[in-house]
Amino acid sequence: MTNSGCPLCGGHGYLVEEDEGRLVAKPCQCRVTERAGERMAASGIPERYRFKYVFERYRPEPGTGQDEALTIARGYAENFPAVPEEKNGLLFIGPCGVGKTHLAVAILMEVVMRKGLPALFVDLNDLYREIRNTYNNREAEATEYDIMGPLVEAPLLLIDELGCLNSPWAQDTLHYLISQRYNRLKPTLCTSNFPDGPGSGVSTLEERIGTPTRSRLYEMCRAVAMDGKDRRRG
Ligand SMILES: Nc1ncnc2c1ncn2[C@@H]1O[C@H](COP(=O)(O)OP(=O)(O)OP(=O)(O)O)[C@@H](O)[C@H]1O
Ligand SMILES: [Mg+2]
Ligand SMILES: [Zn+2]
Repeated sequence: MTNSGCPLCGGHGYLVEEDEGRLVAKPCQCRVTERAGERMAASGIPERYRFKYVFERYRPEPGTGQDEALTIARGYAENFPAVPEEKNGLLFIGPCGVGKTHLAVAILMEVVMRKGLPALFVDLNDLYREIRNTYNNREAEATEYDIMGPLVEAPLLLIDELGCLNSPWAQDTLHYLISQRYNRLKPTLCTSNFPDGPGSGVSTLEERIGTPTRSRLYEMCRAVAMDGKDRRRG
């Protein structure tokens, strides 16, 4: 589909240019932009985050680990799809509103928009709900495997809100996704606000996601600890 209102190409999607004496067809800017829009939509990055959760808008708070987190995230995005041989993903851990999702989405934005590579965002809360809907709703067109398949195979996946639900079913579902990606050596980005290790009264990540999943996750991801004030509170 091309933009029929485009003043440059009139909707053909191509411009004919002279290149060293030969006429060549080059994609028009409208087509490039459209493709970028399609890539963005396909990534599942929520509209609220698009073009907002980018590195340029991230201002680290001194003494919180946010500086280092930004450096690690930037480096990861720059190098992708070249990833470390071991621990080829990142796990952002820290309290509410310190920018974990911001940095993880910023990596995805770079990969999808600048590099034109496919990557997927999934909010674990939404995933659980979507899967439950396939059980409850007989009319549902997608099966659990239809939903999981693309997440298992994505060249880069961001799992937001790890540990948000810790029922046996939720742990099982997450374990399937993590272990499938683990077996395939697929790079995975995660965020969680449950501390790894005993915290101040809150449950640990291990308690929330289960020991087998926690164990694989740490082989898959470099942990990036962040602290700071809750930016949502201003
Ligand atoms: N260092 C920062 N510089 C600029 N904006 C920031 C920074 N940290 C957080 N924000 C902004 O604060 C808001 C919350 O950030 P984000 O969603 O990334 O938090 P989070 O750590 O994922 O929290 P939660 O655990 O609740 O999901 C967003 O609007 C984000 O852009
Ligand atoms: Mg978040
Ligand atoms: Zn055009």
